Amino acid sequence: MAGPASPRTVLVTGGARRLGAAIVRSFAERGYRVVIHHGQSAAEAEALAVALRDAYGTESRIVQADLAEPDAPTRVVDDAARAFGRLDVIVSSASVMEMVPFEQVTPAQWMRTEAVNLRAPFFLMQAAARVLEPGGVFVQMADHLATEIGWPKLLPHQITKSALAQLVRAGADLLAPHRRVNAVAPGLVLPPEGMGEAAVTAFLRDVPLARAGGPDDVLQALRALVDAAYITGVILPVDGGRHLRR
Ligand SMILES: NC(=O)c1ccc[n+]([C@@H]2O[C@H](COP(=O)([O-])OP(=O)(O)OC[C@H]3O[C@@H](n4cnc5c(N)ncnc54)[C@H](OP(=O)(O)O)[C@@H]3O)[C@@H](O)[C@H]2O)c1
Repeated sequence: MAGPASPRTVLVTGGARRLGAAIVRSFAERGYRVVIHHGQSAAEAEALAVALRDAYGTESRIVQADLAEPDAPTRVVDDAARAFGRLDVIVSSASVMEMVPFEQVTPAQWMRTEAVNLRAPFFLMQAAARVLEPGGVFVQMADHLATEIGWPKLLPHQITKSALAQLVRAGADLLAPHRRVNAVAPGLVLPPEGMGEAAVTAFLRDVPLARAGGPDDVLQALRALVDAAYITGVILPVDGGRHLRR
């Protein structure tokens, strides 16, 4: 185990772009060393590492892996733990969300979605149980809309993200008492690429707080779940109250 004086370290999967990159940056701002996992966004991961070094003096490592490969999640966690000699937080953010009508879902698409959204988090968490520092935290990015409300064109995403609730509850119990497991379940934060303005406007009619969320809303919740030492097994909706209007 690392000495108490060495800075804390976080691994963020899917950390090169969009919400994942905002999560990486939020930990860098707080003095963490960061391990940025990416699949295909190598240039974005490099640019983020440089930007964080320049802004905060952050030490970072980049780990590439296709999380649909069976052995990749374990390797990513082991590489991250070796990178700086300690690993305190894992944020499992990488995700597949392909809009396909029910009739057109293929086994290949199902398997890709299931592998990244469900199998990978399972094995990331299994490795976390082995390598996270005592006091460490595993945070899964869930999806409140997909799991509680659901869109017919997103069934593989919806079903795999729903199963994460069981993973988080079981994992919280299994990793206790020295490590915690929580999830953030955003509503609409960064509209998926391809979601038009009309669909966003229609969606917002059912959001009591009457706006889309932003990355900062997710980061506040994430920080709370990482810092609050007596919270484990929680799946926290960050959805402007959308869950009140099913
Ligand atoms: N954005 C929202 O409004 C929203 C709402 C609810 C929940 N969430 C959840 O929050 C998390 C982040 O959201 P996001 O919108 O930023 O996600 P995203 O853009 O859909 O995907 C995040 C990253 O996942 C990585 N990824 C996908 N397939 C992969 C594979 N086979 N191997 C390795 N990496 C893979 C990609 O990395 P590369 O680019 O490096 O390939 C991608 O950049 C997700 O878990 C999502 O479900 C987001």
